[in-house]
Amino acid sequence: MAVIPVDVAGRPYQVVVGTGLLADLGQHCHGRLRKRRVPVVTDARVHAAWGGTIDTALAAAGHEAAWRILPAGESTKSWDQLTALVDWLLAEEVERGDHIIALGGGVIGDLTGFAAAIVKRGCQFIQLPTSLLAQVDSSVGGKTAINTAAGKNLVGAFHQPALVLADLAVLDTLPRRELLAGYAEVVKYGLLGDAEFFQWCQTNAAAMLDGDAALREYAVARSVAAKAQIVKADERETLGLRALLNLGHTFGHALEAQTGFSDRLLHGEGVALGMVLAARYSARRGLIPAADAELVAAHFAELGMVSEVQGLGLNCDGQTLVGHMLHDKKMDAGTLPFVLFRSIGEAFLAKDVALDDVAAFLDGQLAG
Ligand code: GLY
Repeated sequence: MAVIPVDVAGRPYQVVVGTGLLADLGQHCHGRLRKRRVPVVTDARVHAAWGGTIDTALAAAGHEAAWRILPAGESTKSWDQLTALVDWLLAEEVERGDHIIALGGGVIGDLTGFAAAIVKRGCQFIQLPTSLLAQVDSSVGGKTAINTAAGKNLVGAFHQPALVLADLAVLDTLPRRELLAGYAEVVKYGLLGDAEFFQWCQTNAAAMLDGDAALREYAVARSVAAKAQIVKADERETLGLRALLNLGHTFGHALEAQTGFSDRLLHGEGVALGMVLAARYSARRGLIPAADAELVAAHFAELGMVSEVQGLGLNCDGQTLVGHMLHDKKMDAGTLPFVLFRSIGEAFLAKDVALDDVAAFLDGQLAG
């Protein structure tokens, strides 16, 4: 088991990474659950897989889950679900010192965290992330949000959890495609700031994804530790450091938009392709050797992930993809910052990127 501190000013907390944490939930939450009934927010898919484990664990500690079971999928991050969840939490008479539990992936974590941020001007909440992506990224760092008609994650709050329990047992039940998509966010930490970790990924990813428990704990714990450092240094993304976590996300967001934010391209798959494009675009600007950019593409390809945009069968040109980027929430006074590479293992925020050049680059990528 690994325990990683997230030392944000005024609200430090721990991320625990290990196997069997959900089954021992009562013990890990000792001293936090003040009432018999504990509000637990989840989705129907996760409830079917882990609801029984949570019920048993809470009962063993003298508690009872008050379940809020929502539909699985991105559309749950909506105003309607938020208001219904807030009303439900108020009906449950949740107080500021109570802990609301979010059991699920990024959708459940983001929605529950946002509700916890606004109910009674801020309640405690505990993240029990059930996807690899949520374990290494969205459950840590306090970004909470819903989607609106204008776009994804445009309404939300920074609200740190009180505790995160990343139970590696949940990874065994994930579909392979979802596991691989989450893995993109693991590689991200190596690519953006830790060349040695990228090399570790190149050597160990296949065995880790196939189920090696020690490698899984190492990959998740090292990713969380990397994120904790960044969040500690730049919690509100004002210093240009936390923005590095958006590596691959600007290109990836455009691909997700073009594929209608559908199952054609999962978020993590978009991030993986986005990191390939960020590396190749960095090479186009002479920042890194082309051969280094190809290491990124080769790594994803070796694992059976889509690593070329032609693989998506998009019927569009580069300008169309750039058009999607213009709706990115990172737009800043008419310019769009891109996370590019100084080297593999050192990313930086480039604020001088000409979108026409990006469109021409994407034309080349789309043509193959
Ligand atoms: N997922 C990016 C961040 O937490 O800042």
